[in-house]
Amino acid sequence: MTTDTLVDERTWRPSTLDEFVGQSAIKSTLDLMLRSAIMRGAVLEHVAFYGPPGLGKTTLAYIIANTVGGSLRELSAPAITKPGDLATVLTSLSLGDVLFLDEIHALKREIAELLYSAMEDFKVSIQLEKRDDIITLPLKQYTLVGATTDYGLLPEPLRARFGHIFPLDLYTQDELMQVVARAAFLSEVLIDRESLEMIAARGRGTPRLALRLFRRCYDLAVVRGSDLTAELTAEALEMLRVDEMGLDEADRRYLYTLATVYNGGPVGLKALATSAGLNPTTVEQSIEPWLLRSGLVARTRLGRRITKLGLAHLATTTDIVETTK
Ligand SMILES: Nc1ncnc2c1ncn2[C@@H]1O[C@H](COP(=O)(O)OP(=O)(O)OP(=O)(O)O)[C@@H](O)[C@H]1O
Ligand SMILES: [Mg+2]
Repeated sequence: MTTDTLVDERTWRPSTLDEFVGQSAIKSTLDLMLRSAIMRGAVLEHVAFYGPPGLGKTTLAYIIANTVGGSLRELSAPAITKPGDLATVLTSLSLGDVLFLDEIHALKREIAELLYSAMEDFKVSIQLEKRDDIITLPLKQYTLVGATTDYGLLPEPLRARFGHIFPLDLYTQDELMQVVARAAFLSEVLIDRESLEMIAARGRGTPRLALRLFRRCYDLAVVRGSDLTAELTAEALEMLRVDEMGLDEADRRYLYTLATVYNGGPVGLKALATSAGLNPTTVEQSIEPWLLRSGLVARTRLGRRITKLGLAHLATTTDIVETTK
């Protein structure tokens, strides 16, 4: 092991579809679209990805740009305040470039409208400052890659303009083990199977989270001058207070509030989040997907409900009682 190895999420980012772990349905469709576009000498159609944070949306945009050989421009929709800002970026794109628009559901209406013709007809119409007339500028053919954590908020005209919209799903334990094994290999640290299992089990189906846990385990390995053994990994994970199902203090507080204040539910999102002192958006996007997936909580027509498994899990945790009292 070398201690000067760059340990950074960006260096672990897969740059080809082959290196991208899991999401096999997405990979095969995307691979087909890419091959066909390349064989036809055409620009890839616009595509969008949606799913919880940390599952690889940005990574896929990088892979697309890398595969088609275009430059990648990255923009976050909430940061675009004026139509002119988006128009400036669009007109600066070269043939085959990839424009990655993150949080695309948060585009302001007038900016989304500008995007419609920019996607469909490759042109933008803008009003120049201090002038009444509107000018229309042609754009080079480019690929828009949209990403959103909230598919429901995408306006229908926007959805209709994508050649394909890919849903990203949480990763399996096995897939997360591969993600971590790859990062360990690139960081030149030896890691045993048990450590991979422990980290993956706590990764909440999310590569970003599994990799973050791995980095803290790696830190301990560096400091001790050791490989990542099960013993060392257990020690590092203990320090992070992430339990064996990957729940952190906020998750446990959510469960505890649901079980005690609301008698196990059903209860609506807002009431539950407020009582637990959590932000409703954070609850819906970062806390609930994993609690639902792991069967600790159920979502019914009447609201959220704790399951038997959720109650059993809560009984094994002790820290929550101290923090909520
Ligand atoms: N399928 C995968 N295989 C290997 N590594 C992955 C995979 N998906 C994600 N990663 C890693 O996880 C990290 C997080 O992924 P990424 O930034 O693409 O997520 P995201 O979906 O864009 O998240 P956000 O919604 O928060 O922007 C990346 O740095 C990448 O290294
Ligand atoms: Mg991202």
